[in-house]
Amino acid sequence: MADQYAQFGEDKQSTGIPVIRWDEPPEGPVLVLLDQRRLPTDEVELVCTDAPALVEAIRTLAVRGAPLLGIAGAYGVALAAVRGFDVDEAAAALAGARPTAVNLAVGVRRAREAYGAVLADGGGRERAAEAALGAARALHREDAEASARMARHGMALLDELLPGGGHRVLTHCNSGTLVSGGEGTAFAVVLEAHRAGRLRRLWVDETRPLLQGARLTAYEAARNGMAYTLLTDNAAGSLFAAGEVDAVLIGADRIAADGSVANKVGSYPLAVLARYHHVPFIVVAPVTTVDPDTPDGASIEVEQRAAHEVTEVAAPRAPMAGAEAGGGIPVAPLGTQAYNPAFDVTPPELVTAIVTEEGVVSPVTSEALAALREGSRQP
Ligand code: MRU
Repeated sequence: MADQYAQFGEDKQSTGIPVIRWDEPPEGPVLVLLDQRRLPTDEVELVCTDAPALVEAIRTLAVRGAPLLGIAGAYGVALAAVRGFDVDEAAAALAGARPTAVNLAVGVRRAREAYGAVLADGGGRERAAEAALGAARALHREDAEASARMARHGMALLDELLPGGGHRVLTHCNSGTLVSGGEGTAFAVVLEAHRAGRLRRLWVDETRPLLQGARLTAYEAARNGMAYTLLTDNAAGSLFAAGEVDAVLIGADRIAADGSVANKVGSYPLAVLARYHHVPFIVVAPVTTVDPDTPDGASIEVEQRAAHEVTEVAAPRAPMAGAEAGGGIPVAPLGTQAYNPAFDVTPPELVTAIVTEEGVVSPVTSEALAALREGSRQP
């Protein structure tokens, strides 16, 4: 394992955020990630030379968010293949690095299958590795395209539901460029509204305990010149009560066949609030996030994370997620137990619509989701 930090080089894009890239320096191929643990204060790269380094980056949320996890997983398989490591071992470790976002396992499987197909045809390891890399690159590209299409479908839905324009949107966690080969899922819709001059305000939930809203969504909103306001997660109730929210837009880590949506913990309470206050609750996700093998919400494995993420706050300038032993500033008595699920599950009856690149599902039913998958190009 040979991770190393490096300041961004000259290839930093002016218009977007370079979140993940494959590079081939003379020392050998590497996967380069924007280290999301260090945002918003430091924009630094994390260079992974093998799958174990990438597994660690995934577990500690240096790279995160459902679609990006799929892309990273696929590149991880390619990295193992190109560098001559055990591809099956790498694929198993990568797919198991985090359990809830189905895209991770889907991305790993796609690259592993591309590799296996060439081997089975007698193509040899070198050509098989090229096929795995080709699969990762294709997934990366497709995700960017899906992102643009979700943005258009989501924008049309917003305009239909809220004909007055001047939308005030509440979002939770982070679902923008930092989770995607393109501009993301829910945040891509917000960006589309912003560019069309129809976003009045983005309300950004801070998203306890790892602050993906405060650190990452606010960072993306600021970079795009949006009117945004940060709030603590538990301030959302009074915001709804004051009539300040027109729609909730979130992403998803896994959508079960019955339409149950797993997303960052805190999403379900927002859905309950939205229903009580008659506000649309909209989920934006690529078709790859719909998992036909997970029948319902109860079958979704929700990742449970370490207590220290709740019992400590990060020390100034320390990564917000990472070291198993914590290392932050204690905010609870030593030895305090913590309930720290990374995600929660919103039942389909609380979801107004699911926006995908293939179109909008509303009302959310298992039949409509199955038809959507059937009509898409997904395996
Ligand atoms: O734990 P994280 O930061 O990986 O959680 C990410 C989320 O919950 C996002 O909202 C989700 O991946 C959907 S964004 C496409």
